Amino acid sequence: MSYSVSFSGKTVHYYFDEGLQLVDQLMGERKAVFITDSNVHSLYREVFDRFNTIVIPAGEASKSLESLSFITEQLIRFEADRNTLIVGVGGGVVTDITGFAASVYMRGVKFGFIPATLLAMVDAAIGGKNGVDFRLHKNMLGTISQPEFLLFDLSFLQTLPSEEWSNGFAEVIKYGCIFDSFLFDRLVANDMGFFRNDPQEALAIIQKCVDWKNKVVQEDETEQGNRKLLNFGHTAGHAIEKLLNIPHGAAISAGMIIACMLSEQITGLGADATNALRLLLTRYHLPVWLSFDASEVMDILKMDKKRKNDRIDFILLDKIGSARIESLPFDVIYDTLIEYLHAGDH
Ligand SMILES: NC(=O)c1ccc[n+]([C@@H]2O[C@H](COP(=O)([O-])OP(=O)(O)OC[C@H]3O[C@@H](n4cnc5c(N)ncnc54)[C@H](O)[C@@H]3O)[C@@H](O)[C@H]2O)c1
Repeated sequence: MSYSVSFSGKTVHYYFDEGLQLVDQLMGERKAVFITDSNVHSLYREVFDRFNTIVIPAGEASKSLESLSFITEQLIRFEADRNTLIVGVGGGVVTDITGFAASVYMRGVKFGFIPATLLAMVDAAIGGKNGVDFRLHKNMLGTISQPEFLLFDLSFLQTLPSEEWSNGFAEVIKYGCIFDSFLFDRLVANDMGFFRNDPQEALAIIQKCVDWKNKVVQEDETEQGNRKLLNFGHTAGHAIEKLLNIPHGAAISAGMIIACMLSEQITGLGADATNALRLLLTRYHLPVWLSFDASEVMDILKMDKKRKNDRIDFILLDKIGSARIESLPFDVIYDTLIEYLHAGDH
């Protein structure tokens, strides 16, 4: 199945459940340079043999200016020019840095993604945001720039470790919380093994998430309004991720619980909804309680792009399937972090 989605000034082509061989057709006569990470490269060496390939070390540390510099050196070595297509094959780290490198190399060259983790398929590769981290700050440098195509080859998921499935499910659960109570219920009714063992069921939820993300990005590509809803769980989550150096999904999972605890105070979200989310996250092997230093989390939040004076935009739930943006004072957030940490002590 394939379709196209138009964003401002760019049409992105989506190819679902396709084999990798389609990439030759998508390249046409163009020269291509592939970017991947060391894990994906060693697992799928035969895929890359035919192409000029840049391999970065696996892991978040590669989302850095140093990697951008390395990629630029390699693009020059491969004589990439403005007609060269750059193809990122990997998880969100690879798609984020590929999109960024392609957006700034020679002031912008075309690029496509072949997402290889569940998280990249449902979230990171969609919507055009790219970038690198800078010191403790996630995604501090980046652009919004759409790829030419996204090719979903679900066979990549066969080699994905359980922890990475959980990471991806943190984002799937996020879509359920903010947009789609049916998706939430579908996740409640099943478990990770069910989706891992049935590629068609996995494809169905991936497409659902892609549709939700495309819809919100089409309405608000530059994140002036509703695109911010996608940050549910991410404001506190990103700070915790950086501080504890833990997987994205684990940090987002705790961040969603913190956002629900704030919602209980501000929007009147029922405690039963927070509990349902706790159970669901646990079912998908995601941590609900993490221990961290609340002051250090606040220090990182104060540098967040969403800060305005002594307040920061938080995404809160009215109920499962419906979210809103609220500007919250730092002291309310700090008190809730303390409450969260105390609750975890019991
Ligand atoms: N741009 C966006 O809108 C957006 C949205 C959400 C997340 N992100 C970013 O995405 C990143 C996280 O993405 P991720 O979770 O995919 O992490 P990742 O890219 O680090 O991949 C996770 C691990 O899985 C390995 N891997 C990748 N594909 C594999 C496969 N098919 N089989 C086996 N192993 C495989 C990788 O080598 C890595 O070790 C973060 O940097 C986050 O900020 C970006």
